Amino acid sequence: MLHSRQEIQELKLRYQQTLANQLVTAVLILDDNLNICYLNPAAEALLIKSMYKLYGNPADLIFANTSINETRLRQLLSTGQEFTDSDIIIEFSENHRFTAEITASAVEFDRIPHVLLEFKQIDQQKQISLEVFQQQQWIAARDLIKGLAHEIKNPLGGLRGAAQLLNKELTQEQQEYTAMIIEQADRLTNLVDRLLGPNQLPEIQRHNIHSVLEKVNQVVSFSNDQSIELQRDYDPSIPSVECDQEKIQQAVLNIVNNAIQAISKDNTITLKTRIASNKTINGQRVKLAAQISIIDDGPGIPNSIQDTLFYPMVSGRSNGTGLGLSIAQTLVNQHHGKLSCHSRPGHTEFIILLPLEQ
Ligand SMILES: Nc1ncnc2c1ncn2[C@@H]1O[C@H](COP(=O)(O)OP(=O)(O)OP(=O)(O)O)[C@@H](O)[C@H]1O
Ligand SMILES: [Mg+2]
Repeated sequence: MLHSRQEIQELKLRYQQTLANQLVTAVLILDDNLNICYLNPAAEALLIKSMYKLYGNPADLIFANTSINETRLRQLLSTGQEFTDSDIIIEFSENHRFTAEITASAVEFDRIPHVLLEFKQIDQQKQISLEVFQQQQWIAARDLIKGLAHEIKNPLGGLRGAAQLLNKELTQEQQEYTAMIIEQADRLTNLVDRLLGPNQLPEIQRHNIHSVLEKVNQVVSFSNDQSIELQRDYDPSIPSVECDQEKIQQAVLNIVNNAIQAISKDNTITLKTRIASNKTINGQRVKLAAQISIIDDGPGIPNSIQDTLFYPMVSGRSNGTGLGLSIAQTLVNQHHGKLSCHSRPGHTEFIILLPLEQ
């Protein structure tokens, strides 16, 4: 049976429409003003928003702070030169961030150039194995340093003791030298103790996570001379958490102190709490967790140390020992939780996940 050109055209369109709806790849189309004009169901699922919600909104709503910016999209519309960017982090809605590879190309629709964006979500399994790998690396680095610190600690005690004994035999003038030995030995002991990290097992009790955080807030308000005040954004419905209050305070304090050191006067630090569901912690699925975020709008973590941030002795500050985050990591691990971070200029967020009892 012969079909007219018109019929084939219609048939083709119908197939194409159905195809776009069946595709596993998430597809988004922008009009020539870079406003969203179509999402296929896969994209609706990926972004957890329906087309009704997103239609007509600017693309920037989704791609803010990524390399998919207006200049490049306009260039694509005018030249037709397609591009693919990998490792784009989409932080479109709260508590839902994902990494994707995005291909942008130009398509014509009703004779008007449009932008077609295809999302390929980076395999979650890959992300999890990367996390597990980094965790193992962190354990290896920490153990190495712990071993070293342990070896230094013993002779250091002997050295200090000997200097103290010697002190008694010396004239006042000579005692200056032993005082110097003792002072420096104490300084080293202090460092070595921090290198060894927290050595007591946590005393687990039920605590309201917000009273734990309010303690941190109190300490910060007393101790910093720039009178930085922490903003709070708490979810009061979080049930009590089984934790060692002092240890969690210490972990949060180490993170907050870093933020205080990094930001300037007009920046802010926010403590945020939420309930998180279906998270992976060290490769294992956790149904419910309390999520504490420490967010600042400062300059962000230098790129050069982002991958090794939690390793001991990694610091971006000239006078930093690089132990604060490694210690925070140990403390959170003692609670079977997870400490992670994502940072770009203007937004640095450390996230502590503490599993909640089912
Ligand atoms: N909120 C932040 N903004 C910018 N940079 C940060 C932030 N938090 C951490 N950093 C960077 O991460 C580095 C490591 O932090 P960490 O607390 O482990 O060590 P430190 O602060 O250098 O030394 P220590 O805490 O032992 O005194 C810091 O030196 C800093 O460069
Ligand atoms: Mg620090």
